[in-house]
Amino acid sequence: DKAIAGYRATYDAAPELVAYAPGRVNLIGEHTDYNGGFVLPCAIPYGTAIAMGRSNAPEISAVALDLGNAKDRFAIGGDAITPLDLGEWENHLRGIVAGSLAFDLPVHGANMAVTGNVPQGAGLSSSASLGIAMALGLSALNGQDDPDRTKLARIAQWAEHEFVGCSCGLMDQLASAYGEADHALLIDCGKIENKAVPMPDGARILIVHSGVKRGLVDSAYNERRMQCEAAARHYGVTELRDLDETRLNLDRNGLDETAFRRARHVVTENARTLEMAAALAIGDYAAIGNMMQASHQSMRDDFEITLPEIDRLVENITSSIDGEGGARMTGGGFGGCV
Ligand code: GLA
Repeated sequence: DKAIAGYRATYDAAPELVAYAPGRVNLIGEHTDYNGGFVLPCAIPYGTAIAMGRSNAPEISAVALDLGNAKDRFAIGGDAITPLDLGEWENHLRGIVAGSLAFDLPVHGANMAVTGNVPQGAGLSSSASLGIAMALGLSALNGQDDPDRTKLARIAQWAEHEFVGCSCGLMDQLASAYGEADHALLIDCGKIENKAVPMPDGARILIVHSGVKRGLVDSAYNERRMQCEAAARHYGVTELRDLDETRLNLDRNGLDETAFRRARHVVTENARTLEMAAALAIGDYAAIGNMMQASHQSMRDDFEITLPEIDRLVENITSSIDGEGGARMTGGGFGGCV
């Protein structure tokens, strides 16, 4: 409703469609996606809605309804689209348009009004939800109502890499594109295959915001990714997904301590993610709790992406759950939600 009203107020016409995509919460499998590993996110009932209509001019006009009706306008055309120096939401939109063209999807001139309720900097993928909504809407304006959702996810990831500056994996975009109600999504990020895992009857997911907003962490994120790639080179594997715990320990000579711990997080987290998906399918809350606890400790000690406030919150929640489930930080880290 807000997207439609904002569109009418801005462009003095009715939109042709409203594109919507959700944010996600990751249950387990952190920083494994760009290592070809496993993740287990689920879509959440918070997302981004974009009212859209075609225009005659070969350009995109957009209004950000949650940002004081800030506007952006740019011509459509491969090299003509550039990121703005201090741009944020603008660069997500620009990146999706440039990415669509880079992936050979034609883009029609359009007006759009954007609104969303995924909290930003909370580790709940507000940007993937914006990117997927935008990519879905653009392809619908082109007459594609049932697009290849993996391709849309790749376009949104391309936009993050090229226009936003974060070398993210593909989890958030796939979770937003494929998430289903009452299911988590087990994604094999090496094969790019996903499988919906039903949530057990009566299970509840509680997302608690630590109150610590993630700052400018793209640099720390990109650094972790480089450390993982360095470890993969040391072990002679294409991706850390191809490493098991035996070889991890046996062949560690010559690898520096930090890179070793980063690799250990990824290798053990992959195993935990598969175990957690199996535990979820049969509603084994004790196993779920153990996996979540081990995952949090590994993020804290080996991958070093948690904060003391987050650790405390996880400890408090874990002790109050008393074995009936588990708690861990979710998302890229350095703040956000548990
Ligand atoms: C961010 C990235 C994802 C993933 C997570 C950590 O959300 O966008 O690709 O790497 O961090 O699991």
